[in-house]
Amino acid sequence: MKDLAGKTAVVTGAGSGIGRAMAKRWAEAGMNVVLADIDEVALDAAITEISQVGPAVGLPIDVTAASEVEDLLAFTIDHFDRAHLVCNNAGVAGPPGHAPHELTIQDWQWVLDVDLWGVIHGIRTFVPHLLSYGDGHIVNTASQSGLTSGAVISAAYYAAKHAVVALSECQFHDFSQRAPDISVSVLCPGAVATNIMHDEAHRPERFQTVPTPVVTEHTESVTSAMWDVIASGRPAHEVAEIVHSAVINDEFYIFTDPNIIESITARHRAIEQRGLPTTGRMDTDVTGN
Ligand SMILES: NC(=O)c1ccc[n+]([C@@H]2O[C@H](COP(=O)([O-])OP(=O)(O)OC[C@H]3O[C@@H](n4cnc5c(N)ncnc54)[C@H](O)[C@@H]3O)[C@@H](O)[C@H]2O)c1
Repeated sequence: MKDLAGKTAVVTGAGSGIGRAMAKRWAEAGMNVVLADIDEVALDAAITEISQVGPAVGLPIDVTAASEVEDLLAFTIDHFDRAHLVCNNAGVAGPPGHAPHELTIQDWQWVLDVDLWGVIHGIRTFVPHLLSYGDGHIVNTASQSGLTSGAVISAAYYAAKHAVVALSECQFHDFSQRAPDISVSVLCPGAVATNIMHDEAHRPERFQTVPTPVVTEHTESVTSAMWDVIASGRPAHEVAEIVHSAVINDEFYIFTDPNIIESITARHRAIEQRGLPTTGRMDTDVTGN
């Protein structure tokens, strides 16, 4: 999508981090912006900030509820007639340092519901809308964890993000056959300095694990190392700039850390040679191996 000015962008998870930075970047490009987030306080602050740049409205929603994502489309149409650019971005990381079998059912459901079902609801709601106009662009936020795996971030996160990459690729195939003027990109960032390590603050009641899982020395040390890696990650505004350029230039895979190519290549080589699974960047950064 070359010309953004006057068009409308919708961003979920827009109250903080990458979502907020993308919303601001779309406003700077002259777009109307619709922000959505589960955190009403953060959402209000983001609307206030972005309204200084251009037309911005917001709706508090939980992306795990299909009906609330449908409300977001209705809200967008009410305010700006239609959506052109949809960023399915809201996400949580889940508890770090746990093996797959140690995560509780609520952990699995929470992370998969936000990170995967949030994107599925966005696709199921907004794609028919874009198809009715025959143009537009979708950006799904996955992660470098959608292309590699490891032991430090929750297995639920890796599983959800791999699924987001796969579903984005499927959406690409569908658009290329039936709607050549609609594009899709999958954003696979490396570490970005955001509030993602505060994700427990956005865990809805129904996903709470009771009793709270035991914190071990291992989970504590992995969590603390991850805080450091995220805090020293790329600033979110740089990521927004990269996404802006990818949308303008119609690129599918969006990376923010050139070093992830090495771990993607190593993984693919292991698959081709029937070798053993390799780990990704986050494991290297957190464990030093
Ligand atoms: N920060 C990183 O290093 C990094 C790396 C790769 C991918 N990502 C992905 O980027 C996306 C944005 O994360 P971020 O790093 O900006 O984190 P962030 O915590 O700063 O922002 C995420 C936003 O999503 C919102 N959110 C959480 N649950 C929600 C729900 N159920 N419904 C609606 N909104 C909800 C939060 O309130 C928050 O405002 C996520 O999908 C994340 O997985 C982040």
